[in-house]
Amino acid sequence: METNVDSILGKLVVEKQFCTDSEVRECWDVIKNLARQDKPHSLADALLAQGYVTKSQLDRVVKAIDDARPTHRIPGFQILEKLGSGAMATVFKARQLSLDRTVAIKVLPKRLSENPEYVVRFYKEGKAAAKLNHRNIVQAIDVGEAGGYHYFVMEYVKGKTVYDDLSKNKAYSETDALDIIIQIAEALEHAHARGLIHRDVKPKNVMITEDGVAKLADMGLAREAADKEAAQMEAGRAYGTPYYISPEQIRGELDIDFRADIYSLGGMFYHMVTGQVPFEASTPSAVMHKHLKEQLVPPDHINSSLSVGVAEVIEVMMAKNREERYGSVKLLLEDLRNIQAGETPLHAHQKFDPLALVNLEQKSPTADWELEDVLKESPQQLGMKMLIIILSGMLAVAILLIVVLLSKSS
Ligand SMILES: Nc1ncnc2c1ncn2[C@@H]1O[C@H](COP(=O)(O)OP(=O)(O)OP(=O)(O)O)[C@@H](O)[C@H]1O
Ligand SMILES: [Mg+2]
Repeated sequence: METNVDSILGKLVVEKQFCTDSEVRECWDVIKNLARQDKPHSLADALLAQGYVTKSQLDRVVKAIDDARPTHRIPGFQILEKLGSGAMATVFKARQLSLDRTVAIKVLPKRLSENPEYVVRFYKEGKAAAKLNHRNIVQAIDVGEAGGYHYFVMEYVKGKTVYDDLSKNKAYSETDALDIIIQIAEALEHAHARGLIHRDVKPKNVMITEDGVAKLADMGLAREAADKEAAQMEAGRAYGTPYYISPEQIRGELDIDFRADIYSLGGMFYHMVTGQVPFEASTPSAVMHKHLKEQLVPPDHINSSLSVGVAEVIEVMMAKNREERYGSVKLLLEDLRNIQAGETPLHAHQKFDPLALVNLEQKSPTADWELEDVLKESPQQLGMKMLIIILSGMLAVAILLIVVLLSKSS
């Protein structure tokens, strides 16, 4: 089987001119044949057996690869393969030697490992997360430091993320989405009751096991900085666009509470049942602008087969003003379970009518928070402003001309 290390090794031996590309390809064929006979061989073994590299050449290359991989030095763990990487870190599959079990290890990049403020928060939140225990939360196991790198050890989840499905343009059926959203809401209820707010609920952070159990990942992984900065940093990268972030996090408010998680979960629910993110725009800051100011297109306007109940619940979850959202995840769960039982989501239903009015009021352009950057006016608004200024200028010049002409003629 081709592993990460093997493919790097294959490139390096050619690069260093120890052997040729066609010799490496020949070795891959040998490995494939042996694998069919249930005799797994690494590329290193095959290269040596064919006599294409010497033992000392191989040792030099392997050492170079090892030196480039800081994580092999985490004591007590054997790194097996890279599982993936996100905007912030890299996740590896590893074997925890003491307990002989497979785990996942998230390794922070040097940039974050060298930031003492971040590291303190990383340990504090990591410890808090390790106290949680819930089948719908990826279990935090340990935090530590090795070779100057800080890492977070967690339960290994064999499966996929909700993002994997959505990125293949797969929208979920209402029933399937509801099943996942209920499980994640249960995870959040557990965490909130113990004082932990996730702050980054999104499809990439929800993993689905092969048995269909949904697990919320990155619980207790301290965000890089204040949410607004984190969102803006994320916005600057190719990876993340803030499709699910709450308006209060965009505004950089300091007292972020459980309602931010309800908003993000609502955003994810919206995406799952409509196949579209709640707000789309050409730049991340324009997306954030819409979270703050644009009225949500009701999900049942996009997917007309959606039940009224689900549409109402999503709109309440995603109310721009957090006072209008659910007062707790417990109430949200009651509504979700009602829908699952084919009944009306009573809490959303009660909130819904007044909420529609509030949303209409919020649409008026008199909002008084104008923050820099993400809160910038849209091009249309700017265009209108410019037009008014030019017209006013022209009017003033005309009046002046009339006055001058009149005074001359008199
Ligand atoms: N506990 C785990 N078990 C198995 N795979 C995992 C686990 N945690 C993360 N992964 C995999 O590693 C990938 C990278 O995770 P990471 O949290 O670093 O980034 P992300 O959540 O995908 O994206 P972003 O950095 O934008 O938030 C995930 O997409 C997932 O496929
Ligand atoms: Mg993640």
